Amino acid sequence: MAISVAILGATGYTGAELIRLLDAHPEFEIEHLAAHSQAGKRVSDVLPGIASISADKTLATSDAAIPDSVQLVFTALPHAAAAQSVKAALDAGKRVVDLSADFRHANLQNYEQAYGLKHPFPAEQEQAVYGLTEHARSQVAATNLVANPGCYPTSVLLPLIPLLQSTLVQAKSIVIDSKSGTSGAGRSPKTELLYCEINESLAAYGLPKHRHAWEMEEWATSYGAIDVSVRFVPHIIPMTRGMLSTIHLSGEKTSLWHEILSKAYANEPFVNVLPVGKVPNTGAVKGSNRCDIGIMPLNDTEAVVVSCIDNLLKGASGQAIQNANVMFGFAETTGLSVNASWP
Ligand SMILES: NC(=O)c1ccc[n+]([C@@H]2O[C@H](COP(=O)([O-])OP(=O)(O)OC[C@H]3O[C@@H](n4cnc5c(N)ncnc54)[C@H](OP(=O)(O)O)[C@@H]3O)[C@@H](O)[C@H]2O)c1
Repeated sequence: MAISVAILGATGYTGAELIRLLDAHPEFEIEHLAAHSQAGKRVSDVLPGIASISADKTLATSDAAIPDSVQLVFTALPHAAAAQSVKAALDAGKRVVDLSADFRHANLQNYEQAYGLKHPFPAEQEQAVYGLTEHARSQVAATNLVANPGCYPTSVLLPLIPLLQSTLVQAKSIVIDSKSGTSGAGRSPKTELLYCEINESLAAYGLPKHRHAWEMEEWATSYGAIDVSVRFVPHIIPMTRGMLSTIHLSGEKTSLWHEILSKAYANEPFVNVLPVGKVPNTGAVKGSNRCDIGIMPLNDTEAVVVSCIDNLLKGASGQAIQNANVMFGFAETTGLSVNASWP
């Protein structure tokens, strides 16, 4: 029998992507969909792209009781609001995959600095597993709460972790230049995302320290067993979806780095290390749950690594379903595509 699921925040960009994928998933069945300002409406009235079985469902409010039969809850809500819903779902005995930042920081001080909030539920944070699936499978399988990684951190940590673990790269002041399509900022209206503001224009934001820099440093340090610092500058670009991170690295024996990455991900369906010297592009991962990684040694001590994901898939809803598959013992690729929607 299918596992019954709920999505809170179903009307946002990540929520809509969860509906699209889960309605086609053979092992999960959507039972409960909730929203905030759009509660009470039909899904098809709010999400014109959804025409599957969920289209006729009515959106509950995000604080409405979740049916007893629901075993798994996806929370696709803004941070702070997500924490309250996650706590309620855990207290009701559900397993949770949270797409927000609320349970991503094992180090509470990092959460407080990045989000300017005191963490409301430290005990639940202690149970949370940071769900960078390729590096946390056994912990994801065992937990009731997966903190799905941020999109920028996913694009950076996948290439960085094996290189840090090799001890051949310098961990201090790693320079990361990232670009994101505007769906990364969510669906709620913002002046700086209006067509006239964003079209034919490119802007850096989040300086001096974007929230995701804390997340990258915390988990790169944890996995690399070395104190990592990053200089991370994100940019928003006039593109709907897609994310590209260019990582400038120094160290030694750069000619070995491609082999290190290739071996680390040789058996990973969703991480694709390109041949030496080839660089990825966002168009080739759009609509897929893949992370494409290219590596270009510049000389013996310096290299540039470029990584691409679809921010709504491997950067959010795709990785959330990958984690849910692991939690419930399904094949990790179930309901997810390695192929892009291309061109
Ligand atoms: N977009 C990405 O690429 C991406 C990637 C990784 C992680 N994330 C994270 O995933 C979460 C959802 O992101 P998104 O881009 O899908 O956001 P979004 O498009 O802005 O959608 C937000 C959703 O949350 C609901 N909501 C808004 N305020 C709420 C509140 N105070 N209480 C309860 N529900 C509320 C909205 O409902 P109504 O529509 O009914 O108002 C909507 O369903 C965020 O934490 C985000 O940081 C996003």
